[in-house]
Amino acid sequence: MQTTDLIQVDQQHLVFHLHNDKISYLFRVIPEIGQLENYYYGPRIQQPSLDGHLNERELRPGNNLLTGNYTTSLEAIRQEYPVFGTTDFRQGAYAIRYPDGDEITAFKYASYQVTAGYPDLGELPHARYGDETAATLTITLHDENSPLTLQLHYTINTTNALIIRSSTFSNSPQSETTYQLTKALSANLDLPNADYDLIHLHGAWAKEMQIQRQPLMVGRMSIDSDRGASSHQHNPFIALAATNADEQQGQVYGAALLYSGNFLAQVEVDNYAVTRLSLGISPTQFTWQLTPGTSFQTPEVVLSCTTTGLNGMSHEFHDFYRRHLIDQRWADQPKPILINNWEATYFDFNETKLLQLATKAQAVGLDLFVLDDGWFGRRDSDTGSLGNWTVDRHKLPAGLPHLVSAIHQLGLKFGLWFEPEMISTDTPLFQAHPEWRLGHPDKNISHGRNQYVLDFSNPQVVTAIFEQMAAILHSTKIDYIKWDMNRYISEAFSPYLAAQQQGELYHRYIMGVYHLYSLLAQSFPELMIESCAGGGGRFDAGMLYYAPQAWASDDTDAIERLKIQYGASLGYPLQAISSHVSAVPNHQVGRITPLQTRGDVAMFGTFGYELDITKLSEAELAQIKRQIAFVKQQQHLLLTGEFTRLASPFTSNQPAWQVYDRQSGRGLIAAYQILSPANPPYRRLRLQGLDPEQTYQLTRIDAHYQLGQPILVHGDELMNLGIIFSEDYSERTADYWNRPQPHDFASQLFALKAVADLQL
Ligand code: DGJ
Repeated sequence: MQTTDLIQVDQQHLVFHLHNDKISYLFRVIPEIGQLENYYYGPRIQQPSLDGHLNERELRPGNNLLTGNYTTSLEAIRQEYPVFGTTDFRQGAYAIRYPDGDEITAFKYASYQVTAGYPDLGELPHARYGDETAATLTITLHDENSPLTLQLHYTINTTNALIIRSSTFSNSPQSETTYQLTKALSANLDLPNADYDLIHLHGAWAKEMQIQRQPLMVGRMSIDSDRGASSHQHNPFIALAATNADEQQGQVYGAALLYSGNFLAQVEVDNYAVTRLSLGISPTQFTWQLTPGTSFQTPEVVLSCTTTGLNGMSHEFHDFYRRHLIDQRWADQPKPILINNWEATYFDFNETKLLQLATKAQAVGLDLFVLDDGWFGRRDSDTGSLGNWTVDRHKLPAGLPHLVSAIHQLGLKFGLWFEPEMISTDTPLFQAHPEWRLGHPDKNISHGRNQYVLDFSNPQVVTAIFEQMAAILHSTKIDYIKWDMNRYISEAFSPYLAAQQQGELYHRYIMGVYHLYSLLAQSFPELMIESCAGGGGRFDAGMLYYAPQAWASDDTDAIERLKIQYGASLGYPLQAISSHVSAVPNHQVGRITPLQTRGDVAMFGTFGYELDITKLSEAELAQIKRQIAFVKQQQHLLLTGEFTRLASPFTSNQPAWQVYDRQSGRGLIAAYQILSPANPPYRRLRLQGLDPEQTYQLTRIDAHYQLGQPILVHGDELMNLGIIFSEDYSERTADYWNRPQPHDFASQLFALKAVADLQL
């Protein structure tokens, strides 16, 4: 499909049709009032007729009316980007405060423009790459009550069932007035019915990405974060799934914000069963001064529409992020399999201990050694030293370059932990610049984990932290950074910003974070960064733009991780989800799980280890070696194949998922068992998304990662009849008593390979 075909404009009726082979997005300008009305967002429509049947109009007594007729009330119109309080009493997508104190806007359609490619939003995360396969429609509206301009951007590409939206507010250079933007969401979608369930991901520290699904109600439901980060509590990703939709079928709208700061996702159902979905920066404590000649650009929202269930929605997000969001230096590339010393040593380490860990890591085939918290200042606990990014000579007397070169000599890469946004009061940086801490100097400033947040809205602060980090990165070859962030912003106040700009703090803060990422990427182009925020406290698509993978949770227990990773996969590709094998009993929940299960869960993500490998037995080390070799062999498939959820750990004792690559015909299936039942019912696992006519070799992978005897089977059989698990002991009852012991927390892998023909 040509990009010129992606956006059709009926210039006479001012109807805009964005479409590719999968979706159509249709809206128009209402001639009498110059406002934008949504017609349709759904599966592809070949050629919408324009004879008026798309207009939904009903005389509704009680409406306030914009014009002389009785049907032009914005309350009754499905709008593109509504405002509260003219004739619409639902929640608006934006609000502007005028010098008189009123909020009465009157934006009217002025013009449109179609351009090739994705808009470039500078350091604000945005869709990118493959401009030749995307087109953007920009609608410009002028406010009748001010010199303000509003631009709505809509991007569509040739392959994905989604559109990308954002908005730009501008104050004319000729203007003499500053206007206050008090709300600026990124997009709004009014849908003509309300038969949906709202699905979102909620949680807390060590239990992120829990899936909640509940029917919409008449009224408002909202999910947000006002913590200065997207947060553990709610993720800036939601879905509206048709009430009959499940993982495999049914219509689903997905909405994700490419942003890491405060957000609001809101769904409002009116009294006529119209659903309003809106998403963007949270309006809590948000006010932006639109001074003459300036603009405010909202983050982008990705809005998907699919009819193949939740898996279909996830496939679109996964594919889109891999190709159009994640930095192409890292997307789909082999990921170093790492060992992190955090759960192995916490703060208690020295060079000898680290080199012992690294030596063992090298022996089992690991690629990267990550030195976590505690290497700098005098940090023997979490009570100080943040902001003093100089090596602790008590722990590493020979210095960091000495350690790094020893690790490089072992053939491993080296990674280092930073928490750049934080400050401890016992540091030279705080002594020199107490005003660089966020908080009002005369009011209470709360700590979190004994630390304070630096004022990243102040460019000097970002530069100073960059310089400290750059000094370390120049001192030796560091291949990887784990960028952590362990507390939220409270008592928000910037000593740097003027009084009238305090409402800009949260957004300026996160732009400061993005700026530091950009500076690091420019100065150290080979440096890979993993994002982290006490686990998954800032696991979002904005971070994914800068950091190709994110530590999903501080909960490393394999059974808990089934839920966390399953939930995360709703909106994020496996290659973004960092997952490690850790020690047993597990440090968070005390559970003992087999090493095989820990590996079989963690490999469905960006794989690594986080345990004291020097304390393992020879048998365990041998198993880890086999595990690593297996993951390396399967890594391309795991990172780039289509990931499909088969059975949910939230509802099933036997969760399962698969990865399948249509091109190579290869797949990997994982079936887990949480608790082992006695005398269980039959178990069949139906696969998804295979070619029904294709012959496949299905091979059970044993506990030592050896392939068993393959069987040949057709795709339709695997999808309809499924894999049968039970072994047939009926002819050999004696064997039953000698069978391998079933046990709790078990896992089972199967490999799939398309072969030329069925030769049974
Ligand atoms: C929180 C992170 O999520 C952990 O992995 C670890 O890096 C600690 N912080 C270190 O303080």
